[in-house]
Amino acid sequence: MSLSPQFLDELRARTSLSALIGKTTKLQKAGREYKGCCPFHNEKTPSFYVNDDKGFYHCFGCSAHGDAIRWMTDQRGLPFMDAVKELAQAAGLDVPAPDRRTAERAEQAKGLHDVMQAAADWFTAQLGGLDGAAARDLLARRGISDATARAFGFGFAPDSRGRLRTALKEFGDAMLVEAGLLIQVEGKEPYDRFRGRLMIPIRDPRGRVIAFGGRIIGEGEPKYLNSPDTPLFDKGRTLYNLDRAAPASRKANRVIVVEGYMDAIALAQAGIGEAVAPLGTALTEAQLERLWRMVDVPLLCFDGDAAGQKAALRAAHRALPMLEPGRSLAFATLPAGQDPDDLIRSGGPGAMETVLHATQPLVDRLWCAERDAEPLDTPEQRAGLKRRLSDLASQIAEASVKYEYQADFRRRYDEQFAAPPRRAFTPFERRKPGEKWKPPPAPVTADAKAVRAAGIDRVLAKAVLAGLIRHPAEIARHMEVLGSLQLADGALGRLFEAVVDLALEDRALDSDRLVTILASSGFDSVASDLLRADTMPYSFTQSAGDPERARIDLDEAIAIMVARPEVDAALVEATRAMQAKFTDEAFERQVALVREKQALDERLANLCQANEDARAFGPEGN
Ligand code: UTP
Ligand code: MN
Repeated sequence: MSLSPQFLDELRARTSLSALIGKTTKLQKAGREYKGCCPFHNEKTPSFYVNDDKGFYHCFGCSAHGDAIRWMTDQRGLPFMDAVKELAQAAGLDVPAPDRRTAERAEQAKGLHDVMQAAADWFTAQLGGLDGAAARDLLARRGISDATARAFGFGFAPDSRGRLRTALKEFGDAMLVEAGLLIQVEGKEPYDRFRGRLMIPIRDPRGRVIAFGGRIIGEGEPKYLNSPDTPLFDKGRTLYNLDRAAPASRKANRVIVVEGYMDAIALAQAGIGEAVAPLGTALTEAQLERLWRMVDVPLLCFDGDAAGQKAALRAAHRALPMLEPGRSLAFATLPAGQDPDDLIRSGGPGAMETVLHATQPLVDRLWCAERDAEPLDTPEQRAGLKRRLSDLASQIAEASVKYEYQADFRRRYDEQFAAPPRRAFTPFERRKPGEKWKPPPAPVTADAKAVRAAGIDRVLAKAVLAGLIRHPAEIARHMEVLGSLQLADGALGRLFEAVVDLALEDRALDSDRLVTILASSGFDSVASDLLRADTMPYSFTQSAGDPERARIDLDEAIAIMVARPEVDAALVEATRAMQAKFTDEAFERQVALVREKQALDERLANLCQANEDARAFGPEGN
């Protein structure tokens, strides 16, 4: 039975949510809202808020969220109609009697639900049967466990035009056609739609089968065949796996949108239950609304290739008019050519979580896409960018979000085209003055130790060594770190030691003398090689240049050189820990280390860039 939206709105408006919830949950006034300890999860400090004006409750701890009716269904466990009846009675409203047509439609829907369930059962039985071997093989090849196959209701449609029709003939052709299970062509016998396919039931939010997706077993087109839209199934309003993802999202406080249903299934099998997928189409407004009912910022995780990125951008554009304070999208980008299913199989759940943690906010995604869309060399092109950004912001309906986007875009634009930054000093901006880089705790596992030992980047080490030979006065300041460097193998290591020893013996040693001594001690070829290092992209390896800059950059290069293997080793260890046992803590640590590693790479890139800028602008340029 369906009730009109008007009636439901009236019902919500007449219900005092705080009074309703206050019956069983202790609430305290907090400004315009009420707060209390969340009845949906265990907590000691209140993070559960009730807002009477808006008519909803929200828990910042577990993301439980809903209106009066949701409260009755989710917290009190009532069926929807009973919830409505009880609320209506309390509010002094009569529940409208269903008219005949809605009653008929409900009756018909019930019939269709029965057909779909019967079909699902039949497909499952076929998967277990003789004909199902190839489909079972496919599942095995894809690493889908029996438990997962059962949980997701996998089945098999045999390669025949009439077996389903015969098996379900008690429902009658008309209903099987209506359910999308048979195809009826004018004047011909209806025949089975799904033939020779691995069957994946698509369920509504209440877990009832409303459609099927069928994957071809071998090669062939189309790879996936979906049910047509039916009275039960509206492709644009359905999200695959929503029935299981919604409760999982409350625990994880996260909802992930992936491109394919196999991806959602692979994620679930890897312990990430809060993933949904659209059904082969771009995300619709209805789907976005549905996602926002679960969390404020759904995470879109699409393939890094051009198609995936286009899909992500399309969703971003579609979301703009619907944004509201607090409500947005975030993006996680997969390595190009890999979907979550591939990534989990090749890199394990840890690799997937790492991707999921490197998220990009909506505003950033939009900005980057516009900035990179066209060249920006001329004033006209830059004005074009400005116009595109302003057009985007103007799509936002909500005034304060729109204002923030305009301001944010303007800030980014100004930063982008401001005078060239004084890059030479940027490496230090990240660290506060006097703050020293602290290595992560020493690694304990054997392979982490190996990584650390092997870890010094030889290219960078060579550059540093060349820098030290050019600027021997700097060596003394770096004794501690240089002394402990694990470069002891090969000619480079010996040269390193010799340079450090010589500089220690004579603190006033200058570069030319150092080179002379090195040459006479058998290091001539290595040392002179290094001093042709004008080709290296660092200020401290150049023969001419600003010594103060060289000094600062050399400091930075040494810091990076020392930090890198430590971080690498810690990362190996963290990844192992994650693989052994997934805990939030282990995972947090892994992500932090990945970030740290990226930050180091960036700092190194900055160093080269600084040098390039300096050359481009001439010695006075900075
Ligand atoms: P993909 O082709 O990316 O699927 O389509 P996938 O999950 O990687 O498939 P595998 O791993 O090769 O089995 C993503 C989604 O697009 C829809 C389906 O909903 C699929 O889940 N699709 C794809 C279709 O509807 N029809 C098709 O022919 C292909
Ligand atoms: Mn795939």
